[in-house]
Amino acid sequence: VDEAARVSEIVESCRHLEGPLLPVLHKVQAEFGFIPESAKQVIAKALNLSRAEVHGVVTFYHDFRDHPAGRHTLKLCRAEACQSMGCESLAEQIKAKLGVDWHGTTSDGAITLEPVFCLGLCAQAPAAMLDGDVYARLDEDCLGEILTEARR
Ligand code: FES
Repeated sequence: VDEAARVSEIVESCRHLEGPLLPVLHKVQAEFGFIPESAKQVIAKALNLSRAEVHGVVTFYHDFRDHPAGRHTLKLCRAEACQSMGCESLAEQIKAKLGVDWHGTTSDGAITLEPVFCLGLCAQAPAAMLDGDVYARLDEDCLGEILTEARR
């Protein structure tokens, strides 16, 4: 099945819903990993919206991305306990090291940086998760090692 045909199927499966756009976008992202430009056209046409409207929703919600994520996703906790243990300064260091902002992907396509709000490791803050693995009591050295590992 080609991409446009598959996107059309997804739209049809959600058409009966009230406000089908968000469910459609969630399904497209789940399937393709991001919302391809061509999918925006197909969705807009099928739901009688303009491409700009669909694009606006994709960019408004950080859950959606309009380009593929990196091979690895680093989620850094920014909730209260981690904040009190200095996660924000850690975040600044990571952003500088990776050359990205939140939701950005490194130019080599290796790592996407995402914020997360509590990983349930508050007692061992600051915490982060790389793909499925959690890391606690992070410091700059430890993060450096994680990032090096991720790039292998
Ligand atoms: Fe960061 Fe709970 S606040 S793990």
